Amino acid sequence: MNPTNHFDERAKTWDSDPVKIARALAVADGIRRNVPLSPATRALEYGCGTGLLSFALLPHLAHITLADSSPGMLTVLSDKLAAAQVTNMRPIELDLVTDPIPPERYELIYTLMTVHHVEDTDKLLRDLFALLTRPGYLCVADLDAEDGSFHGPAFLGHKGFDREDIGRKARDAGFRKVDFTTVFQMTKRDSPGQTEFPLFLMVAEK
Ligand SMILES: C[S@@+](CC[C@H](N)C(=O)[O-])C[C@H]1O[C@@H](n2cnc3c(N)ncnc32)[C@H](O)[C@@H]1O
Repeated sequence: MNPTNHFDERAKTWDSDPVKIARALAVADGIRRNVPLSPATRALEYGCGTGLLSFALLPHLAHITLADSSPGMLTVLSDKLAAAQVTNMRPIELDLVTDPIPPERYELIYTLMTVHHVEDTDKLLRDLFALLTRPGYLCVADLDAEDGSFHGPAFLGHKGFDREDIGRKARDAGFRKVDFTTVFQMTKRDSPGQTEFPLFLMVAEK
């Protein structure tokens, strides 16, 4: 599954959707409530898109590396960083499905609505575990298990995640403490099936 071209096309208008902005702010609040952040914390966002979540967390962190596989998303993000004259956020092109694990390590890794695009969840969780310092925290915000109406029939990724199942995968990857909260709810009134789509925040401790 390679969603990159799809996201390249959507990058320019991504920030004009108020739901995406509200979602990122709600997840940032959830992370702040559930993870001890300090002005010295160095973080990685995986699947950052245009950086909505990282801009919300930046006042609480020292430095953020923002990784995405879509050059289009990274171009929009770089333009935003230049406009805001931010120097402690660094965009990188990274796809852990095909790229080796970079050498840097982070005290915090977070990812929003990205894990369902990656086929091999077990490998991704192992890679993110390897990218963390010890102690370190992984925050995954994603859809709860859904009936497929969120993306429609052509979508090849995961139809959300069962919390127990992804929690077990996180423990299998090495995480020792895994907790869940509900951080946001999306509504799709024109959906042919399910119309309410809750988002969980999984906080996994290394
Ligand atoms: C639904 S968007 C979410 C973007 C952002 N997190 C947000 O909530 O606004 C999913 C993002 O994950 C990125 N993505 C998908 N598969 C990826 C992969 N294998 N590696 C890195 N990024 C990926 C896409 O390019 C896209 O920017």
